[in-house]
Amino acid sequence: MTQHSSSTLSIPEVSAVPRHVAIIMDGNGRWASKRMMPRVAGHSEGLSAVRRIVQECRKLGVEYLTVFAFSSENWRRPPEEVGFLMKLFLKSLKGEVSRLAENDIALRLIGDLSRFDTAIQEMVDFSEKKTAGCKGLTFTIAANYGGRWDILQAMRQCLAANPNLKPEQVTEELLQPHLSMAYAPEPDLFIRTGGEQRVSNFLLWQLAYTELYFTDILWPDFDEKELHKAFDWFSQRERRFGRTSAQLASQAMSDAV
Ligand code: IPE
Ligand code: IPE
Ligand code: MG
Repeated sequence: MTQHSSSTLSIPEVSAVPRHVAIIMDGNGRWASKRMMPRVAGHSEGLSAVRRIVQECRKLGVEYLTVFAFSSENWRRPPEEVGFLMKLFLKSLKGEVSRLAENDIALRLIGDLSRFDTAIQEMVDFSEKKTAGCKGLTFTIAANYGGRWDILQAMRQCLAANPNLKPEQVTEELLQPHLSMAYAPEPDLFIRTGGEQRVSNFLLWQLAYTELYFTDILWPDFDEKELHKAFDWFSQRERRFGRTSAQLASQAMSDAV
C-alpha cells in the first residue's frame, strides 16, 4: 500500500482539479423540512447527489473523494432516523457496488464499523473486495467516523506495533501510517454544504492544510455546477503551507527553468 507523507512536510503540486476532495454532506433534513417532507426523505434525495458528485469527480480526474455519511455523534439522533440511515446505507451499498466497479471506482470505508449490523459489515467487506483493483477514483465513505476516534485508534495501533517506544520517539511519520486514511494524500479541498461553518469531528488530523469551502446549498441540491464553483474557488487559492508568497514564486521560477 502506498503511504502518503504529511502535506505539512512537502508541497503538493498545484492544480485546478484537487487530487483529494473531502465533503461534509449536510442539510438533508432541512431540505426535506422546507418541502413539508419527513427528514428521512432528505437522506434519500441526498443519495442522488452522492451519485452525481461521484460521477463528476471521476470525470474530472479527482483521484480521491471522501464523504462524511454518518458521524460518531449521529447515533444521538432519534432511533427511527438512525434506523432509516442504516437501511439506506445497506440498500445503497447493494445497489451501487456493480456500477462503481464498472466505472473503475474503488470503494473504501473508514470509521468504527464494529457498531454496525453484521449484514452491513459483510456488505462493506464484499464491496471493498469487489472494487479493490479499480484505479479511476477512490471513493471513501466515512461511517461511524470521528476525527478524534481516528487519532486515538492510530495512537493505540502505533504503540501496539512499537511496544518499547519512548514518548520522545513518537513522531508524525510513525503515527501517520496508522490513521484510517493512510492510503490517500491529505485532502486538498474540503466542502461543507448546508451553511454551517464547522468541521464536526471529520478528518481532524488530515485537514491541517486543506482549503475550506463552505456553501449554503443544501446537500440534496448540490450538483455538478456547484462542484465546479468549488473547484474554481479552489484554483484561486495560494497554498503556502507556512511559507511566504515570495518563496512560492521563486520555487515556481526554479521549477520552470
Ligand atoms: C446530513 O444532513 C446527513 C447526516 C448527518 C446523516 P442532516 O441530516 O444533518 O441535515 P440537517 O443538517 O438536519 O438539515
Ligand atoms: C456532520 O453533520 C456529519 C455528517 C454530515 C455525516 P451534522 O449535521 O451531524 O453536524 P452538526 O451536528 O450540525 O455539527
Ligand atoms: Mg446537519
